[in-house]
Amino acid sequence: MSAVPAARKTRAPHADLDVATIRREFPVLERTVHGKHLAYLDNAASSQRPRAVIDAMSGYYETTHANVHRGVHTLSQEATDSFEGAREKVRRFINARSMKEIVFVRGTTEAVNLVAQSFGRPRFGPGDEILISWLEHHANIVPWQLLCEQTGATLKVAPITLRGEVDYDAFTALLSPRTKLVALAHVSNALGTIVPVRRFIQAAKARGVPVLLDGAQAVPHLEVDVQALDCDFYAFSSHKMCGPTGIGVLYGREALLREMPPWQGGGDMILAVAFEKTLYNDLPWKFEAGTPAIAEAIGLGAAIDYLEALGMERIAAAEHELLEYATARVQEVPGVRLVGTAPEKAAVVSFTLEHVHPHDLGTILDHEGVAIRTGHHCAMPVMDFFNVPATARASFAFYNTRAEVDQLVAALHTAREMLG
Ligand code: ALA
Repeated sequence: MSAVPAARKTRAPHADLDVATIRREFPVLERTVHGKHLAYLDNAASSQRPRAVIDAMSGYYETTHANVHRGVHTLSQEATDSFEGAREKVRRFINARSMKEIVFVRGTTEAVNLVAQSFGRPRFGPGDEILISWLEHHANIVPWQLLCEQTGATLKVAPITLRGEVDYDAFTALLSPRTKLVALAHVSNALGTIVPVRRFIQAAKARGVPVLLDGAQAVPHLEVDVQALDCDFYAFSSHKMCGPTGIGVLYGREALLREMPPWQGGGDMILAVAFEKTLYNDLPWKFEAGTPAIAEAIGLGAAIDYLEALGMERIAAAEHELLEYATARVQEVPGVRLVGTAPEKAAVVSFTLEHVHPHDLGTILDHEGVAIRTGHHCAMPVMDFFNVPATARASFAFYNTRAEVDQLVAALHTAREMLG
């Protein structure tokens, strides 16, 4: 992207995407739940997969499967080509300079843990500080807390505003000569806030502080260009961007990855092993011990092909239009309080409904065919900040429709009549 959401650049109408045709490419969207049309509005937790991704993975298993990087036989070579081809697709998708900078991991969580243990643990010590924000998912909090316990470093937390934005002035005030790393969400999973990360990165860089971005909620919805962002690490998951579970990506600036030790040892991450000394493999394989998630990488590559064919700008525009419609409609329901009202948001509507616990709401909505997430969204500090135990969260993808927003709103009225 850049820090500017694509939706702001184009404003293409939702009609620009042929949503009816797109929906037919997602088999699961055709099913019903409790006899009702399934309105799948839990995309921030995990999106659905198009037939192209399912076929890419089953086709690989049916015709090509063998282990990668290990055999001279045809299947192993073909599997390796497909696996490394997927890495190149990822590189191009986020505009990294080199495939050496694309490390396959299990997901965003593993990517952050890798950076904490391989970048942070050998370098940080008592007095050093890691700066995050109050907006973070647990995956961008707990790995740093573990690292602090291991090294004696201190975790600093930049506050957020009542609209759910990271407070820039408070953030810069917390940057100090002791700050050794900044780790920020690009888009908040709980609230949908798009953090204007370019500004935060520039402030950190001006003080020589490296920056990691948790892009789990950004990559599926915005154009992300790691060179334009000028971040040092960028983490994201395949399963939120129409790809399979079990695989994600750590982008790391090559010079930093080169200096970092492996964080797991085993096969494939070595050049030569002897009991006296082991030589590690080149990037990125130095960080990929053991047999990788081969079919999943291929599925992720197919998901990228699919998203690119639709166009990330058009996806962002379509989702932004849904966000505006949903925000207006949900607020029509008496007793609804929106949680997170930042001016720049991805298509997430987090809210509470007066007198109805979010978990009860989630159950009633499920009976109406509406799938949303209720709870703390793995972001308990955000819930504490807004003084709520949980919220209901509807999160949209480009395949959702206004009719599904209407189904959500009708179900909210039903819940209110039953419990409100
Ligand atoms: N992090 C995922 C969510 O926001 C699971 O729901």
